[in-house]
Amino acid sequence: MDAYLAVVAKREVRTYADRPIPDEVVERLLEAGRVTGSSMNRQAWRFLALESREIRDGVAEAVYAPDNLRGAALAVAIVVTGGATADFDAGRAAQNMMLAALNDGVGSCPNGVADHDRFAALLALEEGERPAIVISFGFPAGDYRPEERSPQEWIRRARRKPATEVISRL
Ligand SMILES: Cc1cc2nc3c(=O)[nH]c(=O)nc-3n(C[C@H](O)[C@H](O)[C@H](O)COP(=O)(O)O)c2cc1C
Repeated sequence: MDAYLAVVAKREVRTYADRPIPDEVVERLLEAGRVTGSSMNRQAWRFLALESREIRDGVAEAVYAPDNLRGAALAVAIVVTGGATADFDAGRAAQNMMLAALNDGVGSCPNGVADHDRFAALLALEEGERPAIVISFGFPAGDYRPEERSPQEWIRRARRKPATEVISRL
């Protein structure tokens, strides 16, 4: 898939087909996260691939939208240590994983963590670690196909503030 198309066609997918994600696709998306650049190359993160349904269902209780995780074929929690740059770095890694997954036809959605204490206990986080985001993954249940529209059409359809409001070219 063309990289620009992937970037502008990325929409969140929250309902997933009841189909596993092939292992090589899981490996590719995890590597896309791990290889992401970070501030001073600190890599102050860990990627917890929640492959077990039982564990996903447990962690679902700690996020804002439990159904996103309950219906997912996979979820990846990014946990970080340190200051705000670690959250920025995690955002980069998260988007890279989601775009790599999209390239293999897999949809995804970021999930904010509502209950940090519960999350930390469930996943036995180490001292100083905190959740940055949990990403749910799965083949889309609906008909979401990036290739069926042009980048311009995806941009036109996106529910976003207008360029005149958010972009200044100085
Ligand atoms: C940091 C962050 C946290 C998010 N948390 C949630 C969440 O808890 N549940 C959810 O369904 N979507 C969550 N989202 C997805 C946003 O709602 C989504 O990116 C936005 O509405 C645009 O969606 P679209 O690209 O499909 O238009 C989150 C996104 C980000 C970047």
